[in-house]
Amino acid sequence: MADTALPTTLADAAVTVLTTPDAADKVRLTRAFAAAWRDGRITEVGVASPPARPARPARPELRLPRDMPKRRKAQSVAGRTALLHALAHIELNAVDLAWDIVARFRTLPDGTPLPRAFQDDWVMVADEEAKHHGLLAERLAALGAAYGDLPAHDGLWQASEATAHDLPARLAIVPMVLEARGLDVTPMMIDSLQKAGDAAGAAVLQIIHDDEIGHVAAGRRWFDACCAALGLDPQDHWQTLVRRHFKGDLKRPFNRPSRDRADFPADWYEPLGVG
Ligand SMILES: [Fe+2]
Ligand SMILES: [Fe+2]
Repeated sequence: MADTALPTTLADAAVTVLTTPDAADKVRLTRAFAAAWRDGRITEVGVASPPARPARPARPELRLPRDMPKRRKAQSVAGRTALLHALAHIELNAVDLAWDIVARFRTLPDGTPLPRAFQDDWVMVADEEAKHHGLLAERLAALGAAYGDLPAHDGLWQASEATAHDLPARLAIVPMVLEARGLDVTPMMIDSLQKAGDAAGAAVLQIIHDDEIGHVAAGRRWFDACCAALGLDPQDHWQTLVRRHFKGDLKRPFNRPSRDRADFPADWYEPLGVG
């Protein structure tokens, strides 16, 4: 992309990705805008209104979670395709979720403007989510499939809408419940891909897992900053917000070593764990 096509502000860049429907375009623009932010071709944060829902491609067909076909065993090609497709869908949502944070939130809860380190973190997250979607799209292509071929579930944007009013709530749910859950389940998926002889797919999931530790850590860091601004105990407040905004259960087993690496201690989530 030529420099002349770059948005002037980071907020415009975020809204450009959010209002772009095509998945490959979202990925390409995200990687270009993130690089431009890192190397100083975009410097201003700016102000722009993110859409309530991001633009999405015509395919995949979005269904309610309860209408999704049951996940097959990862050992078959169809099962691996379904797994990688579901993950590609999650990563595309994650691209939009990261840009939504960049565009939507300007201050800590006490009105202090968010420092540049905040935008740096969430642009880095958006960039890595775009990388993840791209890697999964390559693995789908190797299996003769493409993102959009299968239905995908439409529950993922709900967490964003439920927490659009409140940065600490957004951080409590998106990185610190949903992305942390990814740390718990990915090692089992890596295992099943390895057993199926899909070393390349397993390697992609390992990259994703390792990057996601940084996303959970960024969530924890900015959640703490929000709680410091509010004068609240972060562990108590996280538990309160999870009970208030997260409809599901925090399912055991937790991947404690990976959560520890994200500086997310067990005494925060263990009291809310089930199973
Ligand atoms: Fe990701
Ligand atoms: Fe992530």
